Amino acid sequence: MSAPYVNGSSVWPLRCSASEPVQIVSGDVREKLALLPDETVHCCVTSPPYWGMRDYGYSGQIGAEETIDEYVANLVSCFRDVRRVLRSDGTFWLNIANTYTSGGRGWRDKDAKNQGRAMSYRPDTPAGLKPKDLIGVAWMLAMAMQRDGWYLRSDIIWYKPNCQPESVKDRVTVSHEYLFMFSKSESYYFDQQAIKEPTADGKGSKNKRTVWQVNTEPCKEAHFAAFPRALVRPCILAGSPKGGLILDPFLGSGTVGIVAIETGRRCLGIEVKPDYVDIAKQRLLGASPQLFMECL
Ligand SMILES: C[S@@+](CC[C@H](N)C(=O)[O-])C[C@H]1O[C@@H](n2cnc3c(N)ncnc32)[C@H](O)[C@@H]1O
Repeated sequence: MSAPYVNGSSVWPLRCSASEPVQIVSGDVREKLALLPDETVHCCVTSPPYWGMRDYGYSGQIGAEETIDEYVANLVSCFRDVRRVLRSDGTFWLNIANTYTSGGRGWRDKDAKNQGRAMSYRPDTPAGLKPKDLIGVAWMLAMAMQRDGWYLRSDIIWYKPNCQPESVKDRVTVSHEYLFMFSKSESYYFDQQAIKEPTADGKGSKNKRTVWQVNTEPCKEAHFAAFPRALVRPCILAGSPKGGLILDPFLGSGTVGIVAIETGRRCLGIEVKPDYVDIAKQRLLGASPQLFMECL
């Protein structure tokens, strides 16, 4: 069996197939997504760069905008193109977290467990906010997306029992992020049965709830937090049929591609950093392509 991915910089025509279910496209999402025809993908699952949280080390990077308004506008514009390439019955699952103002610190040191936390820049406290304020950037983005035409269908809380400890003494430790589910149309593909959860007595099943308890998953190859497969799996199972095409415009270490393989879907992933493309390729080699074959 060959590697479960095809890799290059061309987007169209699609090259992913049953034997090579993941297509990795190296480049900037703002250029690459534009090359994809309308209504091509069943479902999009992604986690974009958070505002002022990571330094991905290239100029014009999303997440390094001087103001939150610019950041939100950049993502809304990028996700407008996601809406264009999504089928009319498609859904978009967006993982994002709120952040705090930097309190006037212009940089941040790496820490032993997470080298990727090092930042050569930190944005100033946004106008209208104070040092130490919680920035509700996740909801700002969700509201802006809604205004842009998306149907905002669910705000799912990703509760992380093993969240990063914080040294704060005057507030509680953040242990959750958001997963917003958007649709392109009023009615859309949603396989409710595929993600039902057990009832409390374990004898039956019920509709999945909006708080998902999922531990973060260590990724030995990556210096940033890859999202866990268990967070992505329900999105893909509910949001696409077997064999369907999943898009991750910020592929990072390839988690969405891995879950696509494990659940019998195909994945188109875009990633700007060559180092991360290499990490994604390594991780994809460890996924189980035979599951995909069985599902077809
Ligand atoms: C939060 S990480 C995604 C992590 C991913 N969910 C995983 O499990 O590994 C965001 C990713 O977006 C990539 N990225 C940032 N700006 C980009 C752009 N303009 N085009 C494509 N990828 C970009 C970063 O290099 C990073 O890998």
